[in-house]
Amino acid sequence: MENDIIFEPLRFRNLTVKNRIFRSSISGRWDNYDGSGTQARINWEEKFARGGVGAIISSFVPVAIRGRIMPNYATINCDERIPFWRKVGERVHEYDCKFILQLSHSGRQQDIGGVENLGKKALSSTSQTEPFHGFLCQAMTLTEIKETIQYFADGARRAREAGLDGVELHSANGYLFNQFLSSGINDRQDEYGGSLENRARFLLDVIRAIRKEVGNDFHLQFKISAVDYNNAVTFWEKPGNTIEDSIQVCQWAEEAGADAVHVSTGSLFPHPLNPIGDFNFDVITRTYDAMLSSGVETTRNYILFRKAFFHPLFNFLWNRVKKQLPPQAFSGDDVKDPKIKQLLIENQGRNLLDSREIKKHVNIPVLCTGGLQQASYIRQAINDQYCDGVTMARTLIANNDLVKSFQAGKDLADKPCTYCNKCLLNVIENPLGCYEQDRFNSYEEMMEEVMSVFHETQFANLSR
Ligand SMILES: Cc1cc2nc3c(=O)[nH]c(=O)nc-3n(C[C@H](O)[C@H](O)[C@H](O)COP(=O)(O)O)c2cc1C
Ligand code: SF4
Repeated sequence: MENDIIFEPLRFRNLTVKNRIFRSSISGRWDNYDGSGTQARINWEEKFARGGVGAIISSFVPVAIRGRIMPNYATINCDERIPFWRKVGERVHEYDCKFILQLSHSGRQQDIGGVENLGKKALSSTSQTEPFHGFLCQAMTLTEIKETIQYFADGARRAREAGLDGVELHSANGYLFNQFLSSGINDRQDEYGGSLENRARFLLDVIRAIRKEVGNDFHLQFKISAVDYNNAVTFWEKPGNTIEDSIQVCQWAEEAGADAVHVSTGSLFPHPLNPIGDFNFDVITRTYDAMLSSGVETTRNYILFRKAFFHPLFNFLWNRVKKQLPPQAFSGDDVKDPKIKQLLIENQGRNLLDSREIKKHVNIPVLCTGGLQQASYIRQAINDQYCDGVTMARTLIANNDLVKSFQAGKDLADKPCTYCNKCLLNVIENPLGCYEQDRFNSYEEMMEEVMSVFHETQFANLSR
């Protein structure tokens, strides 16, 4: 299609991306226990570059071992990691695809601490236990805050030295930045708590520290939960930040030196609205045991997930917030299959209204995540100023080559992502991939696809 906005380059202050579709960050346990990377990870990222996305935002990349969500995620906590990330960047650049490293810290949302963190509580803005799983934590001292700010600045410097195209601060979805930003979580009495200005200080300090470390010509974006919905499941918690709070934070972040904002939702992960979709009890009962010793509420949840008797209660709590969402502002081209049509109505683009509000109030480009997978829908979202570009995770796990097929004129994949979230619930202990068997001809075919990233091993690859 001529003049298709999806395939017009997106220009940021320091970076140009060839089209408007970014692979959103997706974490999987590809890497070594110590945070060094593997060939499987490189193969994984290559799939999306080959499929035509303009840029890839890496997975959650910890800037410190204390800030890891779980082992087997490649980190950026020391200079020894630079060569690995350089290799990842070089591989995706072969496809004219950019690579943005997501600089991250779990704070109290530490799913599986690993042996290095044994006996240490997670560091957070607060000493209040995380309510969903019950992860224990302690409020950071001012010295620990200063150290952590420097970890982020060092992470950005390493990303730049690795030849990557930019960094994203993971300041959404309940991780450390969000624990500072959220009025529902941050209960500090010092200059990092209380007013919105104080709660935003940690994020803004990090942005300024990165600018000091790498200068003004390296791409820096941040991901934000536009609305916290902090009491969506644990209804006794405070609701947290509103869209008005987030608009103000975005304006301050732009002033401090951010080049783009990436709009998400929810102050925990997973959250009923992120990734939006189904909650599959069959999968979670098999995988949640990996987290049983991590939090004080994990056993409670395990019993809730295991006993069918409790499922209606859990479903009620999990789905409550979805029912409060306003109807979709628009829909994409007509879809014949009624089941897929309904799934798209319920799940596609649910963050777009927030994204549009933020876009109205900032001058930097806005990216939006959440359920997007139909070309006509994405085109309208960008044309009608809801966002400047979209990011996609599960919808690309299901169809790695979606962007190429949009380019060839297709509106929707033949077998779209069903938002079943089986990929997400598996990843706690299994390799990441699409586990929706209906999308494949057999279990074996599905496994062949999931395992394909392991085919070309480091040893087979030594001659490169
Ligand atoms: C398995 C899995 C892992 C994810 N890991 C991350 C992550 O490390 N960092 C992040 O910001 N978001 C993460 N997300 C959220 C996605 O980036 C994305 O914002 C969300 O899934 C909505 O997009 P989608 O509907 O296209 O999947 C993850 C999602 C999934 C399914
Ligand atoms: S398992 Fe597959 S179909 Fe289900 S949400 Fe994940 S990518 Fe989509």
